[in-house]
Parts: sequence; structure tokens; C-alpha cells
Amino acid sequence: MFAPRQFETPYADALRSLAEHDWQRLHVPAHQGRAENAPGLAQLVGAEALGIDVPMLFSGVDQVTWQLAAPGRATPLMRAQELAAEARGARRVWFLTNGSSGGNHIATTVARGLGTELVVQRSVHSSVIDGLTRVGLSPHFVHGTLDAELGSSHGVTAAQVEEALVEHPASAAVYIVSPSYFGAIADVEAIAEAAHAHGVPLIVDEAWGSHLGLHPDLPVNAVRLGADLLISSTHKGAGSLTQSAVLELGHGEHAGRIETLVDRVVRSYQSTSSSALLLASIDEARRFIVTRPDVVERALRSAQEIRGLLHEDHRFQDATPDILAYPDVVAVDPFKIAIDTRGAGITGHAAQHLLLRDHRIYCELSTPSALLLLIGATSPVDVGRFWEALTSLPRAEPQPERSFPLPSACSRAMGLDEAFFAPVEAVPYDRAPGRVSADSLAAYPPGVPNVLPGEILSEEVVSFLRRTAASPTGYVRGAVDAELRTFRVVAQ
Ligand SMILES: Cc1ncc(COP(=O)(O)O)c(C=O)c1O
Repeated sequence: MFAPRQFETPYADALRSLAEHDWQRLHVPAHQGRAENAPGLAQLVGAEALGIDVPMLFSGVDQVTWQLAAPGRATPLMRAQELAAEARGARRVWFLTNGSSGGNHIATTVARGLGTELVVQRSVHSSVIDGLTRVGLSPHFVHGTLDAELGSSHGVTAAQVEEALVEHPASAAVYIVSPSYFGAIADVEAIAEAAHAHGVPLIVDEAWGSHLGLHPDLPVNAVRLGADLLISSTHKGAGSLTQSAVLELGHGEHAGRIETLVDRVVRSYQSTSSSALLLASIDEARRFIVTRPDVVERALRSAQEIRGLLHEDHRFQDATPDILAYPDVVAVDPFKIAIDTRGAGITGHAAQHLLLRDHRIYCELSTPSALLLLIGATSPVDVGRFWEALTSLPRAEPQPERSFPLPSACSRAMGLDEAFFAPVEAVPYDRAPGRVSADSLAAYPPGVPNVLPGEILSEEVVSFLRRTAASPTGYVRGAVDAELRTFRVVAQ
């Protein structure tokens, strides 16, 4: 049961109270809160949104009340962050406005404040790699098993982390991702124990798990399992506006040790004009998900209904049991449904395309073999509409593409930052194999880099990335051009 104060939304309320007054605004942003100053924009987002689009440090939002600012008392933003921390069982929360990508930049900088080496899961999001590159951290990668069926990798095990820490005792922290894009949850508790036994904190990119731990029927979130620093996209699972996210601090000595550092790094990264709308949306999303367990239950039931239909069907299959069978997976997010489409004679890509084109159904992701659905924790699905559309998909039309496996890791020739900041040149794709990549290139989704700066481009990775770019829903983050006709490499 949640505390009654979880019904409060201090930051969103402060914004609402501002909107009740007829302000003459002579400050940024230049639309100054009036629809007539930006009619097209007002039509797009609503005149009310302009009214609450106020800058940071607007009296009443970041101060205590707009009538009377009382120095030293918690601001509405601070109180909203405290409520978010209470809901997720964190020691402290910071609201972010540049997504978990921004959160990963912050967390990698925090890790750099602790040392120069890091044990890190290889299948992290590209923003982690970008962060490591920028701050000059040397990663010791832990490779999870590849799920060749779904075309993805999930997590890593505590034993693998332990082994990496023994091999690289100078590592300053451990950095993992859980849940994976497909909703696979790692054994965070055991991994945290392994990290702590070696005297280092555990950082978890929980971008896909912002709803975890907010309802008793959902898996426990990582901060309650011993993780020290968490990055989470509240916009992905918990229902806040796109680009909003949070950073969470855990409990215990390792988290305590880094609190001041985290706070300083957050300040150094956050915009001085963070969007009030984004911040308020985190406040509102937390209240709704925590105080309306009935809505979460309805969303859960709709997810179960889809799984139930899949179990009865002989064409489409729920891939959850296959994901759970991996040694690095201990649970699966019930709001992620991976559907194996191969039995229906259609690729995941074709299914996604046809659902979009003919039924106006937009799924989260497709791979050659699967379709991935994301159900918002407070967004029950119209199961009938989805099921009718899915089961009406034509068999083997268009022709299923042959699935192409994830490429194996490329060998390293120089450091991430050394390659990224070196003089570079663009070469045609057929001359790229054998050259050192200057960029991190990630098939998107899921955005896990397939090659990193400083790694030697293999024939396999070049071909995989080009095929990804050519597939209907694929694109490669970091590429010089959309078709990958050229690759950016370290100049010779
Ligand atoms: C594991 C992981 N971390 C971080 C991110 C980046 O999150 P955001 O889109 O909120 O910047 C993503 C995006 O898909 C992700 O999959």
C-alpha cells in the first residue's frame, strides 16, 4: 500500500497554480505563454501547454510558493523528487530532461570520478559507449549470451561480473543494463553483491524499467535489489512525456559515497532551461501509476490476455519462455511481449510494416523473427483490435526475408577515445573491412552498438549494418549516411 502523500504532485501543482494568473510575461521563452504569440505551436500542443512552459527558477515553481519564497525550504521540484524516491524505494532521485541517454552520460562521468577502468556489459545502449568515450574510461566488457532466435542479447550473470572484477581489480564500478529491450531482467541482487564484495558500486541502466516496483504484481526494481545508481526512462514505461527520465541513488555505503559526486555531475549536465512540462510529467506519471493500482491491473490483464491468445495460437508464439531460459535472465517484464512470427510464415519486419500500413497499429520493434509490443503500465490495450489485425496478416506475403544473425564482436586496435578523437576519413563500404572504426555504430532499435570506436570493422559487421539499414524499419545510429555507403574510419 502506498503512502497517502503519493497523491500529491508538488511540482505539477506549482505549475497549475501559476496558470491561474493573468501574467504579463517579459521573460523567456519568447512565446511568453500566449497562444496569439505562437498560433501554430499553440494549435499543436494546446494553449495551456504554452501557459505552463516556464523557465527554471520561475518563482513559484522552483521556489516554495510564488507569493513568498522561503529560502532553505524544499522547493516543489525537490518535494516532487522526494516523492519519486519514496515510490521507488530510492535514497534520492533527480529528474532529468534528456532521457536515459543524458542519464548515461551523467553516470559514466560519475564512474570516471571513481577511477579510469570499468566493468561494463557489452550490450549497453550507445549512450553508455558515447559517455565512456567522452570521459576516457577504459571498459572491460562482459559479453552476455546472444539470443540468435530473437536477434538480441539480454543480460549478464553475477558469475561473469565476478570473473571480470577478479581479472580487472582496478575497475572502479560495474555498469549493466536491466531490463533488456525485450524485457529480460538480470539477477541484479547477485550482481550487486558481486560488485560490493569487490568494493565497487553497481550502476544499472534501468531505462526500460521505470514502472518496476510501483505495483506489487510487477517485478522488483533494481534500487531495491542493491543497485547504487540507476538511470531510468520514465517516458518508456511509466507514462511521462518523451525525453523525461530520472536518476536514482540506492542505499548503503557505496551509494552514500557517490551522492555528492552524482549531484555535482547532474548539475554540470542539466540544461539551465530544463522543460517544466517534462519535469511536471514525471510528477504526474508517478502519482498516476502509484495511486491507481486498478489501472495498472487492467493494463496487466490486457497483456495477459494477449499472451493467453498467443498460447492458443499455432502461428504466432509468445517468446517469453524462450527468453526466460537464458542463464542471464531471472524474470521478464510483463509489459513487454515478444511475439515470434516465424510460425506464421512472416518476418517480424513484414508484420510490423503491414500492421502499420493496413491497421494503423504501431509496435515498438521488429526483428527478422519477432515483433515486440510495449504496453504502458497505465495503458490497457484494445486486445480485440490488435488480435484481429495480427491474425489477419497474410502468410508469407511479402516474402519473408532470411534472418541475419547478430555479428560477433570486432577486435580492438585502439582506445575508444583515442579513435573517436583521431583524424578521420570516410571510405566506401567495400574498403571498410580491416579499417579502425572512428564511430560507434548501432543497429536501431535496439541501439546496442555493433562496433565501437577503436574496433576493426569486419566483413560481417559491415554486411550486418548495411542489411539493417536496408530493412524497412531499421536504421544505424552513428552512420555517415543512411544506406551505409561509407564508413568513418581513423585516417591512416
Ligand atoms: C537500455 C537503454 N538505455 C538508454 C536508452 C536511452 O533512453 P532515452 O531514449 O530515454 O534517452 C535506451 C533507449 O532505447 C535504452 O534502450
